Amino acid sequence: MFSGKTALITGASSGIGEEMARQLAAMGCNLILVARRTERLDALAAQLAEVSVGVITLDLALRDAPQMLFDEVQRRGSQVDILINNAGFGYQKSTLEMSLEEQLGMVDVNDRALLALIRLFAEPMAGRGEGWILNVSSVSAWFPIPGMAAYAASKAFVQTLSRALHEELKPSGITVTTLSPGGTRTEFSAKARGQMDPSLEKAMMPVEPVARAGLEGLARGKAVVVPGGMYRAMTWITRCLPDSVVVRLAGSVMGRNNSWADV
Ligand SMILES: NC(=O)c1ccc[n+]([C@@H]2O[C@H](COP(=O)([O-])OP(=O)(O)OC[C@H]3O[C@@H](n4cnc5c(N)ncnc54)[C@H](OP(=O)(O)O)[C@@H]3O)[C@@H](O)[C@H]2O)c1
Repeated sequence: MFSGKTALITGASSGIGEEMARQLAAMGCNLILVARRTERLDALAAQLAEVSVGVITLDLALRDAPQMLFDEVQRRGSQVDILINNAGFGYQKSTLEMSLEEQLGMVDVNDRALLALIRLFAEPMAGRGEGWILNVSSVSAWFPIPGMAAYAASKAFVQTLSRALHEELKPSGITVTTLSPGGTRTEFSAKARGQMDPSLEKAMMPVEPVARAGLEGLARGKAVVVPGGMYRAMTWITRCLPDSVVVRLAGSVMGRNNSWADV
């Protein structure tokens, strides 16, 4: 379905974004890879010689980054058929442990840049009457997490926005899908907590099926994709329990002093 199309992937230098780039290239989809670590992007591009791959080094926390990215894509004469808003990060810290800059920087990448890129790239997609947007959220979007409050809230923003846009942009021919992974074996956990808790290993999913579930869900026009039966059950259970119980449970299982902080 995506053969011959062009996908722009933010956060393509590692983890889920890198794996999506590999899977899309195997389908014959051309790529524009975006992240800060140029050497990682160049190394990946060199491995994906079967399709056309462009690399754009950019810090999406910068206020003008989305517009700069859009302008650079226009300057190169590329058409973005598929936008994958994947770049993101989180901290396992309480609000008072985090500086304001850390928290706002996270919101800038996870939410502000994502919204701006949708606004910029959806317009030409609507003009063509065709486009696909995949936004990477998290199972933590389903419930507030004391001890990881700003991250969970930033992902709830992604999910609420995406689910509304799934309906809103449908008449324009644009498919909007939310991918909400649970714990996935990437660099995410180490960045969030400084080190990987060995007890977490068993619950972590490999990156391949997570990326595949997102791309398949997008191709099928699904609104929300949660990879893994255990994580789908988790989102279902949280909808059945009283809110106050869910929030306390999330804090004790996934919050500051435990091993589940990245789901
Ligand atoms: N792994 C999990 O357990 C898990 C669970 C739920 C949701 N998620 C979500 O999945 C997405 C991908 O994360 P991952 O697990 O693949 O982690 P990862 O391996 O750490 O990848 C994160 C990607 O985001 C990019 N990025 C971070 N800050 C950026 C910035 N300021 N500007 C541009 N790019 C930036 C990184 O590239 P550079 O550092 O090179 O810029 C990297 O390519 C994130 O949105 C994350 O919240 C992950």
